[in-house]
Amino acid sequence: MCGIVGVLSAQPAAPLMMDALRRLEYRGYDSAGLATVTGGTLARRRAAGKLAALQEVLERDPLAGMSGIGHTRWATHGPPTVENAHPHVAGRVAVVHNGIIENHAALRAELVAAGATFESTTDTEVVAHLLDREIADGVSPEQAMARVMPRLTGAFAFVVLVAGQEDLLLAARRASPLAIGLGDGAAFVGSDAVALAPLTRRIVYLEDGDWAVLRRSGVQVFTGDGTQVIRREQVSTVSAAMIGKGNYRHFMEKEIHDQPEAIAHTLHAVIDPGTGSATLPPPLDDALGVAKITILAAGTSFYAGLTARYWMESIAGIACEAELASEFRDRRAVLPAGGVAIAVSQSGESLDTLMALRNAKSLGQRVLALVNVPESTIAREADGVLLTRAGPEFGVASTKAFTAQLTAFLGLAIALGAARGHIDEGEALRLVIALEGVPGRVATVLEAEERYLPIARDLARARDVLYLGRGLSYPIALEGALKLKEITYVHAEGYAAGEMKHGPIALIDEHVPVIIVAPSDGWFDKTASNMAEVRARGGRVVLLTDAAGAEALGEGADHLVILPDVAAEVAPILYAIPVQLLAYLAAVEKGTDADQPRNLAKSVTVE
Ligand code: G6P
Repeated sequence: MCGIVGVLSAQPAAPLMMDALRRLEYRGYDSAGLATVTGGTLARRRAAGKLAALQEVLERDPLAGMSGIGHTRWATHGPPTVENAHPHVAGRVAVVHNGIIENHAALRAELVAAGATFESTTDTEVVAHLLDREIADGVSPEQAMARVMPRLTGAFAFVVLVAGQEDLLLAARRASPLAIGLGDGAAFVGSDAVALAPLTRRIVYLEDGDWAVLRRSGVQVFTGDGTQVIRREQVSTVSAAMIGKGNYRHFMEKEIHDQPEAIAHTLHAVIDPGTGSATLPPPLDDALGVAKITILAAGTSFYAGLTARYWMESIAGIACEAELASEFRDRRAVLPAGGVAIAVSQSGESLDTLMALRNAKSLGQRVLALVNVPESTIAREADGVLLTRAGPEFGVASTKAFTAQLTAFLGLAIALGAARGHIDEGEALRLVIALEGVPGRVATVLEAEERYLPIARDLARARDVLYLGRGLSYPIALEGALKLKEITYVHAEGYAAGEMKHGPIALIDEHVPVIIVAPSDGWFDKTASNMAEVRARGGRVVLLTDAAGAEALGEGADHLVILPDVAAEVAPILYAIPVQLLAYLAAVEKGTDADQPRNLAKSVTVE
């Protein structure tokens, strides 16, 4: 999703902003631009496509100035053309913006009626016009901001640069993320602390509805009604050293290989390595009082939630539903008193998940945030936070955050089950030991990466691919299909194996690879019947199973992948790895951009 940066420095702003925008590339975008104030006037450079195109423009036509704003745009209102690229300028005001100004049509009509001429079809441009009109009326830029903010509806973040003002940036946020960075005689603003990491780690996070005045000497923050407030300065946990691909070809490949560590760190956030006992964060600490768990999430995080539902029911003995945040946010769901909602989000910024969290609160639920970014909006709005310790994730297709979420959920289920007396001490210990063994098993799978290459080649050439799984393997089938379609553009569907006979079976012929996720667990025999149905119709079977499963069914598979033996409860975490590897290697085979697939964004801050 759009990336924002703003710089007030003692050095040329353009290179600093390009560097920050590169660190925001992972969010996904399709055009980019910069503006500075130089010699009192605004100067702007923009390009459609990737940052390399903007860099070429800058080489031909350099941009001077030590104060500036920059942007990577993920198109919402209007195609990714140069005209629609940010910054948008009206008179003396330039704006970069993330999110949506919902009442832009009415504001645009009002501005056009008053004589304004628009250059783009974006919603953003109305903000530049509104501010410019106020400043033209003789008020200061700060006063203009105070007047314009109440007129805007929607979820957004934006940063403003004003001609003639070389020591001023104005920044505002409502629901969309924005971080202010404090420097020595410098001030910065960016979509997240990652963008600002090499510039500063001293961060001030704006609260929802805040706007701020940045000068090199310091920052003033105001609430939506114009009251000045103090927002605490924090030291960001993200360091510049954490942001790199190391020796890997893509962030996604690195992040797949980061998983033994990400899982182990997350595990120890829930389970005490000394005693093996698990701890519960609020609002789950009153384990006996939890009437129901409602998991709210989007994308891959939703599939972690779907997996967790099985654990919460069978290990913790708690009623549990996993809900798509984009649907739940507007539902009048009937939820019990004493219910807990868990908002799951790698970024902690997905707007639908944030809105679902707010809906859950309004429906009387207490909320736990399961997020990978401690400073995120979802973390700050929840009643309690459990952090996945996956480290920054840059590949658009989530990998290590997913297995870290699974690990945290299983740890929570064990702790809840033990605290509620649903499982006894011995069973809790068995599960903790099984979970402790996962990082090592994951490392074993990763060592055999080559094993997946011939299958990945097959998938890269397919038109349609089916992923089947039952019980705990069903969400992994969904995740496998999502990964493949996201980064290779091959059509893939994940299905509950038992549902295959109600539809997808019609698609099966010798051209359709069918990936069957089947550890030898309680669901195995039924999945085996579904595999037989695939084979009877000539489908090409890729079987992901363990030694016992291979013994029983291996002969019927066109490709057989034998994974290490693990307890059935932890198998989803392990079986996530081969489906990630298959998608990644298929993307490499096809030559698609695994880190920044077309049209997708890392952190989706629009509705
Ligand atoms: C986007 C990303 C996915 C991610 C989803 C939810 O679609 O491309 O990788 O799973 O958003 O993001 P979140 O940050 O809330 O987990």
